Amino acid sequence: PLSDEQKQILKTTSPIFKENGKEITSIIYKHMFAAHPELLNIFNRTNQKNGTQPFALANTVYLAIENIDHLDTLLPQILLIAHKHRASTVQPEHYPIVGKYLIIAIDEFLGGMGDPSILSAWSAAYNIIASIFINIEKKMYSELGDKTEQGFIPFSIIKKETIAIGPTVSFTLERRDGGKIHDYHAGQYITLRIKKDGLYHIRHYSLIEPFDGKTYSIAVKQEKDHEPKGIVSTELIEKYKEGDLVTLSLPAGTYALIKDAKHHLFIAGGIGISVFSAMILELHKQGKSDITTLIHCVPTEEQAAFTDEMRIVLPKKQYHLLLQGKRLLQETIAKTIMAKTQVYLCGSPTFMNKVEEYLAQCGHPPSQIHIEAFQPSLSLLKD
Ligand code: HEM
Repeated sequence: PLSDEQKQILKTTSPIFKENGKEITSIIYKHMFAAHPELLNIFNRTNQKNGTQPFALANTVYLAIENIDHLDTLLPQILLIAHKHRASTVQPEHYPIVGKYLIIAIDEFLGGMGDPSILSAWSAAYNIIASIFINIEKKMYSELGDKTEQGFIPFSIIKKETIAIGPTVSFTLERRDGGKIHDYHAGQYITLRIKKDGLYHIRHYSLIEPFDGKTYSIAVKQEKDHEPKGIVSTELIEKYKEGDLVTLSLPAGTYALIKDAKHHLFIAGGIGISVFSAMILELHKQGKSDITTLIHCVPTEEQAAFTDEMRIVLPKKQYHLLLQGKRLLQETIAKTIMAKTQVYLCGSPTFMNKVEEYLAQCGHPPSQIHIEAFQPSLSLLKD
């Protein structure tokens, strides 16, 4: 446990991390990848490049330090991260490595004059946080089964289909090693790993259908207009065909339907529809389409995925496909939202900010707003 003196040190020094977190985590990654290039196989380099991953780590360390006496209040965030770690196959022995470079980076940031008592307080706090993750993740790995189930497993692409221009392409995957296919809930993702230029690259993709007992399906959008372009998505769309093998780790993630909700409202920007596809089809299976509404914002109808499926399962008045320029979003939300509505939100950061702002203006309770982000969600944390 931390001494009172260490807690005091952490309180006075944590603002350094808040204000310079991104810079400090960038120093961590620079030194860590130089000393441990094998870790480049685990970390998503697109999220490294755009800075969201260092930022998420910095935010989490800062939040954890601020809440070090009551970390249980951070349990939802901790579980979300632990799922991502398990899906990326992060191991207990990786924690001391990140911890070591965290302390080196803080010292370097302080100009090499880090007071030993400051560095040891941070090291002690890191160890507390790391041991929480390690314990939760150990339990998650053991629930999957033996070593094979805990790692990346070969699957073959049994169907590849363009489902919207963009392009957005769906992949249906079947397990190839004779092992059993694991169940999941709508809202979860699988993590694909492919090899390119001698390195592994991983990427999480939401499952787009409720579990069928045989396969996993995902939708992949190729980013053509934004930098950096996703390495895995581009490879999958351009190079992989039916019959090819990919490897993936088993379903993970904490995003889920709210049980016993009176009304579910899904608001998707672009490819944000992927995760909602599984959730809406699941509600349909449960006979709950009458309490389900979807607002999907896309530039043009050809760019909208899942329109056929949604037209089949949702009553016409509960499916709103909003095209760019029509400025109907606020109006449509106002028309469809009720006091008890559970709102689910997924899209680009700009899109989600806009919707969140509007929901706040409506006075909709944040506890009834559930966000699934494309990028590390804690990188979006605001003050
Ligand atoms: C993801 C925090 C230790 C590897 C994340 C995320 C956070 C985070 C906030 C983003 C979650 C999201 O998607 O929203 C932490 C903290 C740690 C820690 C606070 C220490 C206490 C580690 C270690 C490793 C690691 C030891 C392995 C060397 C990863 C990977 C991802 C990740 C591979 C997924 C990246 C991606 O796909 O974008 N972590 N982490 N983390 N972390 Fe950690």
